[in-house]
Amino acid sequence: MGQTEAVDVVRWSDSPEGPALALLDQTRLPREEIILVCRDVPSVIAAIKTLAVRGAPLLGIAGGYGVALAAALGQDVPAAARALAGARPTAVNLARGAERVLQAYEEGRSALAEAHAIAAEEAAASVRMAEYGLPLVPEGGRILTHCNAGALAAGGDGTALAVVVAAHRAGRLTMLWVDETRPLLQGARLTAYEAARHGLPYTVLPDGAAASLFAAGEVDLVVVGADRIARDGSVANKVGTYSLAVLAHHHGVPFVVVAPTSTVDLDARSGNDIPIEQRDPAEVTTIAGQPAAPLGSPVYNPAFDVTPGELVTAIVTERGVIAQVNEGSLAALGDRLPKR
Ligand code: MRU
Repeated sequence: MGQTEAVDVVRWSDSPEGPALALLDQTRLPREEIILVCRDVPSVIAAIKTLAVRGAPLLGIAGGYGVALAAALGQDVPAAARALAGARPTAVNLARGAERVLQAYEEGRSALAEAHAIAAEEAAASVRMAEYGLPLVPEGGRILTHCNAGALAAGGDGTALAVVVAAHRAGRLTMLWVDETRPLLQGARLTAYEAARHGLPYTVLPDGAAASLFAAGEVDLVVVGADRIARDGSVANKVGTYSLAVLAHHHGVPFVVVAPTSTVDLDARSGNDIPIEQRDPAEVTTIAGQPAAPLGSPVYNPAFDVTPGELVTAIVTERGVIAQVNEGSLAALGDRLPKR
């Protein structure tokens, strides 16, 4: 992926059949690389809801292209932007990407050019985050990550995974520990897929095995992405991230979040203001279509959790490293942040 892989994760296509958004269907990975061609806004929304396309920065890119698709098809662009923005609630990038392209359209600028600009900015941000994050990785680093924050989730080599890849290229990575990430297995299916393609030394573990890995002294650093960062430094990311932060704190291991400023939402004063997506119980009660719990079992299936800022050692953005994570340091980003 990124610099080492030719598969396009998200690509605008303008063929004789008309404009379309071509997506690598992430629900089919790692079994097969299938391109999903979305020729209308409802199919882009369906791809977002089913996680065919996912990950905060990539949702911003897909949301932007979705609005550009509505414009290219001569449809009701504000209605399309509203529907796209609401397809998933937690990653602020999605609404931000859709609203940014809508604004360009309403100002008479090219919606497609604006969507391309978002994609280019996220790719550039990935390069900068890798540069800023690399010094945080110790020599011989054994890094634990959760979910997928690579090229399948963001521009370039991704966010957290871009730092890991940079560490590998610098000869500093001994092991990438990959949490499988129940229930949808973004770690096992997607991060391991990317790690293999980059030639990283990696090992997949069940989420519940992370604690014993810390206890054995096998983790030097935790590096994860984010879906939304609130003004007080609270970080929403894939459910299970908070447990890793608690474990890291207990074992004295640095817990680093890597995210572009497009993921920072200063309008959310704290983690309580971040909407957490609740997903289909069937994601928990079935595995590969087979029952994994008695029929009708009550289910708690939040897609994300919130890690308080005091457990976050540093936040790496494309503008630099925030080493003191608190309201003041986040607010200092101030006017330089993308507008909603
Ligand atoms: O439900 P998902 O797969 O979209 O969740 C993705 C994550 O939680 C990622 O860690 C986050 O979006 C950061 S991606 C660079």
